[in-house]
Amino acid sequence: MKHLRLSIIGFGTVGQGLAELLATKRALLKQDYGLTVTLVSVANARHGFIYRDEGLDVPTLLELAAKRRPLSEHAGVRRWANALEGLQATGGDVLAEVTGTNLRDAEPGISHIRAALTQGMHVITANKGPGALAAAELFSLAQQHSVQLRMEATVMAGTPVLSTIREGMASANVTAIRGILNGTTNYILSAMVTGRDYAEALAEAQAQGYAESDPTADVEGYDSVAKTLILAALVFGSALKPGQVFRQGITSITREQVLQANDNGKRIKLIASLRRHRETDTLEARVEPTGLALGDPLARVDGVMNAITIHTDTLPEVTVIGPGAGRLQTGQGLLADLIAIAKTKQ
Ligand SMILES: NC(=O)c1ccc[n+]([C@@H]2O[C@H](COP(=O)([O-])OP(=O)(O)OC[C@H]3O[C@@H](n4cnc5c(N)ncnc54)[C@H](OP(=O)(O)O)[C@@H]3O)[C@@H](O)[C@H]2O)c1
Repeated sequence: MKHLRLSIIGFGTVGQGLAELLATKRALLKQDYGLTVTLVSVANARHGFIYRDEGLDVPTLLELAAKRRPLSEHAGVRRWANALEGLQATGGDVLAEVTGTNLRDAEPGISHIRAALTQGMHVITANKGPGALAAAELFSLAQQHSVQLRMEATVMAGTPVLSTIREGMASANVTAIRGILNGTTNYILSAMVTGRDYAEALAEAQAQGYAESDPTADVEGYDSVAKTLILAALVFGSALKPGQVFRQGITSITREQVLQANDNGKRIKLIASLRRHRETDTLEARVEPTGLALGDPLARVDGVMNAITIHTDTLPEVTVIGPGAGRLQTGQGLLADLIAIAKTKQ
């Protein structure tokens, strides 16, 4: 039987989704993977970091979070006001880092990840900031401390993209990747095909909870840029900077352009792409609205759904379609990474 002591920093939508899966899949983890997981610590910004050596009770934590009560009301816990200090004082086998994405300096996630790796903890994360801005540094730190850093959930949530490419397609030489990596913009563009204008479609996405009240990160393409940077680092081994990704959002796309494209048998999608140019040994990275012919597998991926097409030498074209967000959908990506780590544990 393998045993992992887990810390979750960030207890919002995704942190709670992972905790819920740990509880609902407890028996399956034991039976199918010989794995038991003890959640020893949890942190959020409002209530700080709580730790209990014998493990925390997930239903109690979820109830406290749902009622927005302090997590420290859980019985028998020690508490630190600051997550980083709590983590450094208590440790564990694996850190799940699921604080909010910050594409300016990747904080606070990057500090949590650096601290965990340095103290010999494996890290799983859905937070895009650290992978987008500092993948090379963090993977090198992980290697230095003989631990793993896995980030399946950063690209298309739990839909397996990184593991499909790195493990499922091992040894295939990836030449290009094209994807719809942002559900909000795909929802808006799909709604515009039915005749709505941009503002109407955005308002609808916000009402449905698919777009934030400040939608800039999604509609201006920054979220897709972050995922493109992660793919550049993990798939192509290229540490691109955000400014090296050509970026154009969807805010200036009009209903007329969308309907015109439709009449011409095309669909406009916000496409993130990476292409290796062998002649110049460069990696071209772009995020931009693109008119796709209906025969393209990405053209018919509508609503909040995400998709990615991978071009390789041995498998010319592989397309993976699936959810790119959601509480359990993202928790699934983290859990798959946790299981992958458990499999390699002695
Ligand atoms: N939601 C999705 O579907 C999805 C999909 C893929 C990837 N992601 C990524 O996953 C991460 C989490 O997303 P989410 O939707 O769960 O966000 P969220 O609901 O806003 O949760 C973020 C959590 O981080 C906590 N936090 C912020 N700063 C902290 C600090 N310094 N120390 C400890 N905790 C801190 C927040 O505390 P408070 O609760 O006190 O505010 C909150 O609990 C993000 O990076 C996001 O980009 C999300």
